Amino acid sequence: MIFAKRIAVLLLTAVLLILYFRARTQDYHSTLQRLSQRVGLGDLANDEEEDFQEQLNRQKGPFTNNNYVTHNSSESSYPTGTLKPAGEPYTRALVIGRLSSENTTWLDSYLPTDAYLVPYLYIVDDHTAALHTPINKGHEAMVYLTYILDHYDSPSLPDISIFMHPHQLAWHTPELLNHDAAETLKRLSSARVTREGYMNLRCHWDPGCPERLHPGTSYRDNLKREEIAIAHAWAEMFPGEPVPDSIGAPCCAQFAVSRERIRAIPKASYERYRDWLLRTEETDWISGRVFEYLWHKIFTNQATLCPDARACYCDGYGICFQTPDLFETWFDNHHHWRRATKELEQWEERATVVNSVGNWKKVEQMKLDIPVPGRNIELKQEIDERFRLLVHLRTEALKNGTDPQIRAAVAGRPWEVGNGY
Ligand SMILES: *[C@@H]1O[C@H](CO)[C@@H](O)[C@H](O)[C@H]1NC(C)=O
Ligand SMILES: *[C@@H]1O[C@H](CO)[C@@H](O)[C@H](O)[C@H]1NC(C)=O
Ligand SMILES: *[C@@H]1O[C@H](CO)[C@@H](O)[C@H](O)[C@H]1NC(C)=O
Repeated sequence: MIFAKRIAVLLLTAVLLILYFRARTQDYHSTLQRLSQRVGLGDLANDEEEDFQEQLNRQKGPFTNNNYVTHNSSESSYPTGTLKPAGEPYTRALVIGRLSSENTTWLDSYLPTDAYLVPYLYIVDDHTAALHTPINKGHEAMVYLTYILDHYDSPSLPDISIFMHPHQLAWHTPELLNHDAAETLKRLSSARVTREGYMNLRCHWDPGCPERLHPGTSYRDNLKREEIAIAHAWAEMFPGEPVPDSIGAPCCAQFAVSRERIRAIPKASYERYRDWLLRTEETDWISGRVFEYLWHKIFTNQATLCPDARACYCDGYGICFQTPDLFETWFDNHHHWRRATKELEQWEERATVVNSVGNWKKVEQMKLDIPVPGRNIELKQEIDERFRLLVHLRTEALKNGTDPQIRAAVAGRPWEVGNGY
């Protein structure tokens, strides 16, 4: 009799544990589905998938510091680009690489809304595809360099070339653009790209800024395995140039470049970069990462390029928070909104498990993590309040971003009546 009771308790425990872990796994998968990760090229970088807490932390500052580096024509070796007259459209190319198993169906609904955007979709593992790379190596870097080499001399090279990953939603796509690639394309300012020549699509500093890599190090940091490789790559790619003490730029290899800037770099240099990529014995994971932290060097000749995040959002996407305080308030709220949303999700999952057993007391004896009664109501209220503030501030910021004078002021550039963005 006692024996039977014990077996029943054991069985119940097993069932509960299975339910609990299934709930956890589903939750993990739904997070990943919402926020797809790195470009799925070459050797898939699954070990790079971050947990939720890390994603949350990435949304916090720093957003700037007092001596941030952005385009400064008196320091840059490239001149400020010449804008078209206000209102005149810029032609744009969208360059994306994908595996044949991936799709870019989100573009089908976006493209008809953007008359001046021409897509260049490279399929890296299908040699019969209209656009493909010589080999599938080096993640997105091979795609980007192949596009540049294919179009360098061509009259079809548009005013702006935009280089992106195939997913519509990704954690590294700007938060204020809802992590959405379509929204990013829609709002991206061709004027800022033209003026600065090169613009990283990501405004956030973490990961990457202000100094992610120290190429001189002899310590092998497993989170930055590209750090040691980059010094060797540098010597081959930029012969005769001293390896810098540090390299920094926002992560993730999505950016836009003007035609003028693409052609300001000799074609032979792009050939040298791609040769390195074709020859290197580093894994794709490393060689892709090496380029991730060299694009800004290639296009601006600066080892560190960490533009002020608020200026990046305002001048780059027309989302203008007029003070650093308002900007930080938004992100602080967003951070807590996501935290509360996650906590509520976990509360509800645990409640489901508990209810499926139907006997709270028994569950309590078994020391299961009990959802605190009433906490869900509190959380719902917090989520609502925070969400309202987020929407309110963002709506204001979008409105303020339509004013070219505010854009210039936040970006710290001169402005005269009649100037556009
Ligand atoms: C640009 O660089 C020059 C020369 O180093 C410096 O005097 C100036 O303050 C910089 N401007 C900005 C906006 O950082
Ligand atoms: C395209 O990919 C998305 C995201 O991975 C997926 O949800 C969708 O079903 C795919 N569509 C097609 C037509 O394969
Ligand atoms: C937008 O502009 C108004 C008027 O200048 C200002 O009061 C408000 O704080 C601004 N909002 C944001 C989010 O910057």
